[in-house]
Amino acid sequence: NYHFYPKKDFVGKRILITAGPTREPIDPVRYISNRSSGKMGFAFAQIASLRGAQVKLISGPTSLSTPYMVERIDIETTEEMLKSVLDNFEFCDVLVMAAAVSDFKVDQQSSKKIKKKNSLELNLIANPDILKEISSLKKNQVVIGFAAETENLSENASKKLVEKKLDYIVANRISETGFPFGSENNEVLILSASGECYELNSTKIDIASFILDIIKERISF
Ligand code: CTP
Ligand code: CA
Repeated sequence: NYHFYPKKDFVGKRILITAGPTREPIDPVRYISNRSSGKMGFAFAQIASLRGAQVKLISGPTSLSTPYMVERIDIETTEEMLKSVLDNFEFCDVLVMAAAVSDFKVDQQSSKKIKKKNSLELNLIANPDILKEISSLKKNQVVIGFAAETENLSENASKKLVEKKLDYIVANRISETGFPFGSENNEVLILSASGECYELNSTKIDIASFILDIIKERISF
């Protein structure tokens, strides 16, 4: 596999990556989350580090081990992820938001375990949008968002590209069975703010490596 000896073309570059799901507590023993495995963000961290970048990986709960030479920051909730991204954004050249951020949180968490009953109503309220929060702080960073869509892939992705002021968005189609969550492979559409468009069906490592190739000239070396 040629990734064992990749070119060291990101030496001196700082890449901040978020990965995995976030988790929103309901009570001390329960939470709301999503099906993200974290594999895309971890693959990105691994290849960026192998190519010489200094990588920080802000990760929600996953079962993955930390890639070699990567600094990992573990968080659970969207608020914690937001805080960690804000703490680190100023010091990065590239932000890769591969995390599947929970859009909602429980309005009133119960401090005690909720007992069994015939029905339960949970009031969910909106979480902050991390990419929107950082868009006003953006200087020279290259910001990459991800989008998982079950319909209107390119329309929804280009809307997010504009609304979140991204440089790139990586969109993948999710089937009704949830594929490709947890998979090693991905079929993606990559759109850029400057009008580039790429379609790729490959491993998560190769997709990450391809993205590093196309953003390389955007970062001042
Ligand atoms: N994202 C974020 N903060 C959120 C939700 C999402 O920063 N609260 C980021 C994700 O990490 C991803 C991008 O925004 O890089 C798109 O996420 P997605 O869930 O597809 O978009 P949403 O804006 O949440 O819209 P929707 O879920 O309604 O499609
Ligand atoms: Ca969302």
